[in-house]
Amino acid sequence: MLIPPASGADAAETSIKERNLSMTTHYEVHGTVALITLSNPPVNGLGYATRLSLTDNLQKANLDAAVKSIVITGAGKAFSGGADIKEFGSPKALQEPNLLSVILMIENSSKPVVAAIHSVCMGGGLELALGCHYRIAAPGCSVALPEVKLGLLPGAGGTQRLPRALGVEPALNMIVSGEPVKSELLAQIPAQKLFDRMAQSPESLAEEAFAFAQSIADIRPLPLVRNLPCQHPNGDAYFQFARNMVKGMAKNFPAPLKCVDAVAAATKQKFEDGLRFERELFINLMWTPESRALRHIFMAERAASKIPDVPEDTPKREIKSIAVIGAGTMGGGISMNFLNAGIPVKMLEMKQEALDRGIATIRKNYEAQVKKGKLKADKYEQRMSLLSTTLSYDDLKDADMVIEAVFEEMGVKEKVFKELDRVMKSGAILATNTSTLDVNKIASFTQRPQDVIGTHFFSPANVMKLLEVVRGEKTGRDVLATVMALGKKIKKTAVVSGVCDGFIGNRMIEQYSRQAGFLLEEGCTPAQVDKAVEKFGFAMGPFRMGDLAGNDIGWAIRKRRYTEKPDLKYSKTADLLCEMGRYGQKTGAGWYDYVAGKRDAIPSQLVVDMIEKHRKDIGVEPRKISDEEIVQRLVYSLVNEAAHILEEGIASKASDIDMVYLTGYGFPIHRGGPMLYADQVGLFNVVQSMNRFAQNPLDDANFWKPAPLLAKLAAEGKTFN
Ligand code: 3HC
Ligand code: NAI
Repeated sequence: MLIPPASGADAAETSIKERNLSMTTHYEVHGTVALITLSNPPVNGLGYATRLSLTDNLQKANLDAAVKSIVITGAGKAFSGGADIKEFGSPKALQEPNLLSVILMIENSSKPVVAAIHSVCMGGGLELALGCHYRIAAPGCSVALPEVKLGLLPGAGGTQRLPRALGVEPALNMIVSGEPVKSELLAQIPAQKLFDRMAQSPESLAEEAFAFAQSIADIRPLPLVRNLPCQHPNGDAYFQFARNMVKGMAKNFPAPLKCVDAVAAATKQKFEDGLRFERELFINLMWTPESRALRHIFMAERAASKIPDVPEDTPKREIKSIAVIGAGTMGGGISMNFLNAGIPVKMLEMKQEALDRGIATIRKNYEAQVKKGKLKADKYEQRMSLLSTTLSYDDLKDADMVIEAVFEEMGVKEKVFKELDRVMKSGAILATNTSTLDVNKIASFTQRPQDVIGTHFFSPANVMKLLEVVRGEKTGRDVLATVMALGKKIKKTAVVSGVCDGFIGNRMIEQYSRQAGFLLEEGCTPAQVDKAVEKFGFAMGPFRMGDLAGNDIGWAIRKRRYTEKPDLKYSKTADLLCEMGRYGQKTGAGWYDYVAGKRDAIPSQLVVDMIEKHRKDIGVEPRKISDEEIVQRLVYSLVNEAAHILEEGIASKASDIDMVYLTGYGFPIHRGGPMLYADQVGLFNVVQSMNRFAQNPLDDANFWKPAPLLAKLAAEGKTFN
């Protein structure tokens, strides 16, 4: 069947224009079918303007005598991605017509409403579809109620309608996990009422939706999902089981358990009561710090790729092959990222044995994944076939990008970059994985500093999400845009940092480590500090982290600082530990003791004795320090340094700093990163605490002077974000 040409209506333009809102749905009439197309890019979010426009057009269709049925669909790459997340926390989110009212209006339509679903149908988008009288879906559509990932639950009937349409268990699984499921799989669930029909293909959806809308135009009464039964044969036992499962997984987050409560209510209460219960839970969750944190992270993750002076249409270079210099700890992990993404890698080393060792480690990593069932054997071979090696720079000349991961010495980097400058083809990107050296200086070793950039991966580089992209003074905009896009391709969270000692993450962690040292001198044990910070939610306290990364790394940095910044105050405890040869897990002893082959940190009497002796030597009487003080001093030290970093333009926005800490340093997700956490505490309160810490003679009063940006924001009652 062909769709009859559009006639008549042009959209609810007047009313939308009168309200000064942009057009967010379109209205056309094809024969007897009115087509309302959500048109609010990028994903047809159901913000205030869209809801208003949708209700205007629904009314229009209902008033038009020529219209017998209505199809709602979405323009572009989604049916709908759900409620507009950007509106959350503002009055617009709940302003009438809210989503519940829109859905009620659809249910009450005198003419049948068909949802024609394709590509993405999520959150409020799925709830909207569930309010329609019929649903036809294209195959390949991602269907989800992902609200739980934002610390919420579906708040427009999703917890009440999806169990009725799909069955209690599959619906609860979707609501608690938030994971998308493909439409064709959902269509196979026995007795499901989610989709009345599956279209043959995404391309034929429109035509099939029109034919379907015509075929049901006269059917009355109109079917409503709310009228379907909602039962579970072993309700109480099942929901108890679900609660137990969810409790274990939902650490620090209230939403998943509330999802179970809401679905349980769907099986026990009348539809209207269940809907009210769901709404109450939804509104309460919306104001929790956990949901604010998750919503912040959703936006921050996407904002990280937006660079103020690098527009999205900046031309990018094509990266089809990569060269990696150095097959050590980082070189191997870095290579795996590209192999995983199907990009060929050539590794260069000084000796064949080093290459063999590097390859063996990569194989071992992949084999472990195959053993755990995380990677198919043929995929493993496919990835390995993309890897080649060489001992000669001349073999690298055709690579589109080269990443250097050799020893952390400027002299070595100089030699490597001069060689790269000699051999690499024009237009190739030259990247360094340096963690501490000056990227501008490295760029100056070449005749093409515009092509040089830092790609600071975190160890293990094949696992850690964070990639600090270090923008040198002369780095070309197209180079930056290319590397950011490449970061996305290899599934990293890429965050831009300017050049400074330690970039964003390590520069901040240095202050945090200094505070951890002062805490030991003043009376804490390493275990006490770690426990307080881990209770706050960090994956690992500073001393367990030191033992994992190697305490000698910090030692080397401090030695440099002692000559560069002789006035900077440090606790000597960490140096004394290293002098005892206790570098951490790799030497079997660090801040903690370790049993061979195990990673459990066992508090060490030797270390406690060393700290006590040191206190005596410097004449410090230990005092009892509260967990609250420990956490505040450690977290606010990050915040104050971050404020300097923002002010200097090393990071372009506070949310970038949050992403660095969430994805690279184990900052608790439910707190949303150090900057959001400080915002939530209130910058005025943060500054007050800093002023108090500055009074402590054993601490560093200079450091606790609030960064000017922080002081200014606090005085103005503003926030970082
Ligand atoms: N509201 C507003 N903007 C949204 C959005 C939403 N629900 N979903 C995505 N966007 C925006 C993103 O911010 C991004 O904007 P940008 O281009 O300015 O950075 C753009 O859409 C594209 O997003 P992605 O980069 O994530 O694009 P993908 O194609 O990779 O993924 C997606 C698309 C699957 C829709 C993914 O964005 C996603 O999962 N979105 C979240 C969906 C969601 O959580 N919906 C529930 C909202 S809460 C709700 O509906 C409450 C209700 O129950 C009452
Ligand atoms: P590594 O010592 O494990 O590996 C370095 C490799 O480079 C060795 O295999 C060595 O043979 C090779 N190499 C040295 N000089 C070379 C040259 N001239 N030509 C070719 N190969 C050469 O070191 P790692 O840990 O992999 O570090 C590499 C770089 O990554 C350093 O700049 C380091 O600062 C940085 N980095 C390290 C992190 C870590 O946790 N290890 C984290 C982030 C960055």
